[in-house]
Amino acid sequence: MNKITAAITAVGGYVPETKLTNFDLEKMVDTNDEWIRTRTGISERRILREPGKATSDLATPAVLEILRKKNLDPKEIDCIICATVTPDMVFPATANIISDKVGATNAFGFDLNAACSGFLFALTTGAGFIESGRYKKVIVVGADKMSAIVDYTDRNTCVIFGDGAGAVLLEANTEGYGVQDSLLKSDGSGVKYLRMKAGGSLHPASVETVLAKEHFAYQEGQTVFKFAVKGMADISAELLERNHLTGDDIAWLVPHQANLRIIDATANRMGISKDKVMINISKYGNTTAATIPLCLWEWEDKLNKGENLVLAAFGGGFTWGATLVKWGF
Ligand code: UT7
Repeated sequence: MNKITAAITAVGGYVPETKLTNFDLEKMVDTNDEWIRTRTGISERRILREPGKATSDLATPAVLEILRKKNLDPKEIDCIICATVTPDMVFPATANIISDKVGATNAFGFDLNAACSGFLFALTTGAGFIESGRYKKVIVVGADKMSAIVDYTDRNTCVIFGDGAGAVLLEANTEGYGVQDSLLKSDGSGVKYLRMKAGGSLHPASVETVLAKEHFAYQEGQTVFKFAVKGMADISAELLERNHLTGDDIAWLVPHQANLRIIDATANRMGISKDKVMINISKYGNTTAATIPLCLWEWEDKLNKGENLVLAAFGGGFTWGATLVKWGF
C-alpha cells in the first residue's frame, strides 16, 4: 500500500469587516502612517468590534466555508485543532466551541498554543493524525482576536496586530500530496521578550495586574525582530537543504506576516523572488496564528496541484518552523 500523506484539500478564511487604518491609529497614539508602513509594511488591519464576539466567531465562518466548498457533512470531521493565543476563554478549548458552532458532533478538538508559529505546529500535528491512518478528515484552524489583548495606548504593539482566521482541511492521500516535511523549534528562554505577563497561573488576574496593564501583549520589538529574521530564514533554508531543493523548486513562500522586512530577509536567504512570496500584511497586519492560512485562502485560485510551497513562521515562546507542502488540489 502507498504511504498515506495529509493533503490540504480545501481552504477557508475570515476577516471582520471593520478596518483600523494607520490614519485611525494616528488619532489614538503618537504614530504616523509613514512610520508604520516603512517599518512594518502594514497599512490597515481588521478588528472584530462587536461585543460578545470572540475568536470562535472568526474561526467558525472559515470552517463553514470549507464545509460548503467540499459539500461536506460536519459529522464527517474527525478532529478540529485550533491554534490560537486568544482563546474564547482559558478553558474549555476554543476548538470545542468551534465544533459545536459548525455541527462537528463526531469530532474531538483541542487548542494548541505556539503563538505566531501555531498554525505550523497544528498543521504538523494534524498531518500526523492523518498519516497514522487513524483519521481521515482533520481541520486545522489558525485564529486570533488580537484586538482583545492589544493595548491601544501602546504604540509599540497596537500598530502591528489585527484579527482574523484561516482554516485548512487535511485529508488522507496516497498520491504523495500534502505535508512533506516539517522543521519545528522552540526556545523557552525567549519568554521574556514576547508574552502576556499576567492571567496565567504564575500571575493570576488581580486588581494589581489589571492596573499594571499586564493582560496585554508585551513585546520587545527590536530583540524579537533580530531573532525572527535569523530564525525564519535559517529554518526555511535548512528545510530546503534537507529536501535537496533550491528556491527554484518552490512555487510559493508562505511566510508569517509579522513584518515585511522579516519576510524579505527570508525570501532572500532562500533565493526566492518577491513575485513568489505571498504578502498581505498591508491589509491585515499580524493576525498571529491566522496569517499563513489567510494567505493560502487569498492565493487559492493561483495555486496548482503538485506545486511546492514552503510555509514559514516565527513567534512568541520563542517558537519557529518551516513546513514543505505539495499542493493537493
Ligand atoms: O509575530 C510574532 C513575532 N513578532 C515579530 O516578529 C515582530 C518583530 N519586531 C518588529 O517587527 C519591529 O521591531 C517593530 C515593528 C515592532 C518595531 O520596529 P523597529 O524598527 O524595531 O523599531 P524600534 O522599536 O527600534 O523603534 C525605533 C524608534 C523608536 O524611537 P527612538 O527611540 O529611535 O526615538 C521608537 O520609540 O521608533 C519609535 N517607535 C515608533 N514611532 C512611531 C516605535 N513604535 C512606533 C510607532 N510609531 N508605532
